[in-house]
Amino acid sequence: MGKALDGVRILDFTHVQSGPTCTQLLAWFGADVIKVERAGAGDITREQLRDVAGADSLYFTMLNHNKRSVTIDTKNPEGKLVLEALIQKCDVLVENFAPGALDRMGFTWERIQELNPRMIVASVKGFGPGPYEDCKVYENVAQCVGGAASTTGFDDGPPVVTGAQIGDSGTGLHLALGIVTALYQRTMTGRGQKVLAAMQDGVLNLCRVKLRDQQRLERTGVMKEYPQYPNGTFGEAVPRAGNASGGGQPGWILKCKGWEHDPNAYIYFITQAPVWVKICNVIGREEWATHPDYATPDARLPRLKEIFAEVERWTMTKTKFEAMEILNKYDIPCGPILSMKEIAEDESLRKTGTIVEVDHPVRGKYLTVGNPIKLSDSPTEVTRSPLLGEHTDEVMAELGYSPAQIDALRTAGAI
Ligand code: COA
Repeated sequence: MGKALDGVRILDFTHVQSGPTCTQLLAWFGADVIKVERAGAGDITREQLRDVAGADSLYFTMLNHNKRSVTIDTKNPEGKLVLEALIQKCDVLVENFAPGALDRMGFTWERIQELNPRMIVASVKGFGPGPYEDCKVYENVAQCVGGAASTTGFDDGPPVVTGAQIGDSGTGLHLALGIVTALYQRTMTGRGQKVLAAMQDGVLNLCRVKLRDQQRLERTGVMKEYPQYPNGTFGEAVPRAGNASGGGQPGWILKCKGWEHDPNAYIYFITQAPVWVKICNVIGREEWATHPDYATPDARLPRLKEIFAEVERWTMTKTKFEAMEILNKYDIPCGPILSMKEIAEDESLRKTGTIVEVDHPVRGKYLTVGNPIKLSDSPTEVTRSPLLGEHTDEVMAELGYSPAQIDALRTAGAI
């Protein structure tokens, strides 16, 4: 059976994390992803955070599966000709250079269209058009300018960035959707188009509920599900919400048995209204089910701290997994705080292909996160990331270059 994106050729000019996550997804869906790198250097992440001497880092290998690697010096005149041939052969060019770098190479949108009017040019940039459009941006900058940092953390502490790479991987996901959408539109128009995913926009999209809260705050001056209610004060902007749930069902992180020595012996507990009576029964506070101070969601809002403290008295008598098992029987939504070690060892995640073991010729076996999106007719097989320039000769031959021409280009430093 073929793959969903069989026949789609991606000229992958991405580096670091945001762009590579996007093209990795496209490769997992079956596209032929040809990653262009500089000879002798390659994607800077090949050597960043190295844990095995001489081997591509996990940073690189975990973001570049299922791709081919070619080396081209795109500032060399002959290298530019090779790139032109690739532009004519490919469907999509994906890049996340600093603003203007592609133009400086001589590959403006106009030039690319001359070479291939069907080409889709997809870019990750830090900011969209505006005062900051020329700025370079990394993950945490995006989290700060997209509204995530100001709304993450606790009220009495500084803004906090999250471990989820919502700026890089999150924007890569947005870009991938933009690319397949543009490919779909091209089937009707026959034309390519530009696709832009700005990291600030991607983070803000993921912080949509916080812009919701900003407007609620401006209208009512108070947000009753936030930990600042009822005793704290609200300012002009959405405050940090600690571990409060972002939705209408209040939640909090509670200690479980062993919390004194295990930093992850905690559970996220949601006091979902439809199961309130069951919660009261489980924690041994049956009278709360009918008491007017506790029986309705509105009555509970000013008492959430007291309620969670009482639930915690119960969760502290159970391990996080015991608590999860008991609560699930009653359909009470909850989730243990899983460490990366626990996730890496999780058998069920391995069975679904979400955690995958991959073999690499230099570093040996390592774990990676497989495709989180499962298509029933287009299953993903994760294959290792390419060595630098591993497929240069193969791709050059596909472009029609003879072995002698390839040697000459190599001697000239173009590939
Ligand atoms: N051959 C020749 N030159 C090449 C090349 C190749 N194969 N590949 C890249 N280059 C050149 C570029 O043309 C550029 O040259 P120029 O500055 O003279 O025009 C140079 O390499 C550096 O590229 P750049 O993207 O500016 O890298 P950087 O290390 O200075 O910046 C980022 C890194 C991530 C900050 C920047 O790329 C960026 O802001 N990207 C957009 C946002 C983004 O994706 N950020 C998240 C990254 S996870």
